[in-house]
Amino acid sequence: MSFNFVKGCMFVENVAVQEIAEQVGTPFYCYSTKSMRSNITAYQAGLAGLEYLLAYAVKANSNVSVLKTFASLGAGADIVSGGELKRALAAGIPPNKIVFSGVGKTHEEMAMALDACILQFNVESLEELERLNAVAASKSVIAPVSIRVNPDIAAGGHSKISTGRSSDKFGIPFSLAQSIFANSRAYTSINLVGLDVHIGSQITKAAPFRQAFNAALIMVNQLLIDGHSIKRLDIGGGLGVAYDGSKVLTPEEYGALAKECLGDLNVLLIIEPGRSLVADAGILVSTVISTKSTDGQSFLIVDAAMNDLMRPALYDAVHNIVPVKSQDGTSCMYDVVGPVCESSDIFVRKLMLPKMAAGDLVAIKSAGAYGASLSNEYNSRPLVPEVLVNGSEWSIIRNRPTYEDMIARDIQPPWLSANHHS
Ligand code: LLP
Repeated sequence: MSFNFVKGCMFVENVAVQEIAEQVGTPFYCYSTKSMRSNITAYQAGLAGLEYLLAYAVKANSNVSVLKTFASLGAGADIVSGGELKRALAAGIPPNKIVFSGVGKTHEEMAMALDACILQFNVESLEELERLNAVAASKSVIAPVSIRVNPDIAAGGHSKISTGRSSDKFGIPFSLAQSIFANSRAYTSINLVGLDVHIGSQITKAAPFRQAFNAALIMVNQLLIDGHSIKRLDIGGGLGVAYDGSKVLTPEEYGALAKECLGDLNVLLIIEPGRSLVADAGILVSTVISTKSTDGQSFLIVDAAMNDLMRPALYDAVHNIVPVKSQDGTSCMYDVVGPVCESSDIFVRKLMLPKMAAGDLVAIKSAGAYGASLSNEYNSRPLVPEVLVNGSEWSIIRNRPTYEDMIARDIQPPWLSANHHS
């Protein structure tokens, strides 16, 4: 909807991709504001009538302008580090809409989040609860906490992004959560406000969510029976997107399912979607450097690589790739690869494309989530710039560092200087 072809040329909203490429150079990420807006609106439609907080999972795409776009639509943030806390605050996300997840919060990060007065910490172990209690006590404040339980549900698009199995490092068994609630008086600087469940990522069907929501419902009801006050239930993120164009559960359907299963609980429902808000709102634009043919195999060598978009190399993820200018004529089966010196630097195998030539532009689709945020400078390739489109306007929202910027980050100790005498 936000990525269209007009007279054979790809547009993001009302801006030609070619125009941005000429001014920014490739590779670059490009995001559509309209697409992000419609993804949020779909969740809001499904959840309408409930008391809820949509806390965008910052890790999916942590650019401050992306966060600001979501903040302007009422979203809060799910953060997992001090850096993400700083980004969320810099984007103007109100602290009382920020939840802090993750198994390894440091003392310093806990202190930063307490100072910022965030809504809650999602605590993943007894040890973490004790550490947070001590940090809060040292500041004479009370830390609001939900306990993350591990419901032992296998879900997610790849085993590396499944988090709700009992063998995963996340959460604690419900029995332990129950005993923590029973013993809550021992934690004098903690206010236990609820439970948290997150089972995995890139989940495309309703069944695992239904199972997790029902498990959460049973657990909350048990805690209420035990006499505890449960004010909040965080059901995590995890809704997948259609990388291959197949039909998947929509944000609207997910919201409606949450409402159906949990709507009667008198709690603040927190959801932490990441991918489903940004993946289809972004593309990675790249230029063909060269083609190469060996033994009947054709490679399309492009100027983006695994360091810019790690998902194919990390999770065997498949992102559709399209030419930015549609072309008729002969087609060719390509392995689309980057210039990095690793065999895993491959975006897709055996993709039918029109015959391409050096200088042609391609768009790697559904790259808005876990693209730029997972990128790095391997092979000393500068971080890829990011561009945000809004109707007919567009702006660079992260610059490409210069080679000098990159090198200036390295520090040369005195003994390596030419005039050092030891
Ligand atoms: N909440 C928690 C506690 C999480 O760990 C995550 C993702 C989310 C929310 C957001 O999940 P989402 O709605 O985006 O599925 N790099 C991988 C995905 C890793 C997900 C990690 N946790 C990928 O590119 O597929």
